[in-house]
Amino acid sequence: MSDDYFWYEGIAFPVVDYSAEILRKVREEFVLKDEDVVTVTYPKSGTHWLSEILCLIRSKGDTKWIQSEPLWERSPWVDTEHGFTLLNKKAGPRFLNSHLPVHLFPKSIFSSKAKVIYLIRNPKDIIVSGYFFWNSVHLAKKPKSIEQYLQWFVEGNVIYGSWFDHVHGWVSMRERGNFLMLSYEELKWDTERTIEKICQFLGKKMEPEELNSVIKNSSFQVMKENKMSNFSLLSDTYIVHKEPLMRKGVTGDWKNYFSVAQAEAFDKLFKEKMADLPRELFPWE
Ligand code: A3P
Repeated sequence: MSDDYFWYEGIAFPVVDYSAEILRKVREEFVLKDEDVVTVTYPKSGTHWLSEILCLIRSKGDTKWIQSEPLWERSPWVDTEHGFTLLNKKAGPRFLNSHLPVHLFPKSIFSSKAKVIYLIRNPKDIIVSGYFFWNSVHLAKKPKSIEQYLQWFVEGNVIYGSWFDHVHGWVSMRERGNFLMLSYEELKWDTERTIEKICQFLGKKMEPEELNSVIKNSSFQVMKENKMSNFSLLSDTYIVHKEPLMRKGVTGDWKNYFSVAQAEAFDKLFKEKMADLPRELFPWE
């Protein structure tokens, strides 16, 4: 396994399962179907959590599906060779995941009614989550310290590039009827109301006991124990530490890792870079 990056159009990607040919095909040739539901995130924003919720909504809280098929097959990553191939064979309605910035995402999004959910998270928590994650897998360059990773992150020299650009690109889609923007924070602080919001967006109705099952079975603790969702099925070739994915599952963990000076400098940069966007888009602010 390589602990390096693969570069495509100035953006870093993992070396394994990514290629220029696939990324080109994804953007130019992948056809989104109107009944598809797409989860888009910058890495470490809660992608797997949202995917688990979507699967449970589809099964009306029944856990058979989430306990029998790995998450990356229930909702494949279109960006990867494996996911791209799998999705092209899948009959709809499909779930798809992607971390791609909007300009590398399938162009068919502009002519499709596929529903897209963009999940954001406090970038300071993304940095902490990313620091631990990339050190727990053999998929990319390993940062030696939070300080080093913070530096790479600010420069955009991390997997999937600049968080600031990613958010700007996707947020520009927010007025579209088939686009829902959510945050990890609202999902955490008011799980029930946020799941109801997702159901409304998808046009799904659930009975109270079905909703309770979705909440319970997508909880951090239950997901941590579900081998179809917690990454424990990944071979040792990819994994350094057991359980790289389900680390803490909380908001504000950055306070345990950032110095006061680092937090102040990051907040200043955040204000400068995101000054053109309404603050209410960022509920952690
Ligand atoms: P932490 O590393 O802060 O714990 P992604 O799926 O985009 O890679 O994001 C991973 C992050 O989402 C990890 O954050 C992980 O713990 C958190 N996460 C995964 N499932 C979760 C759940 N059910 N509830 C809360 N957080 C969850």
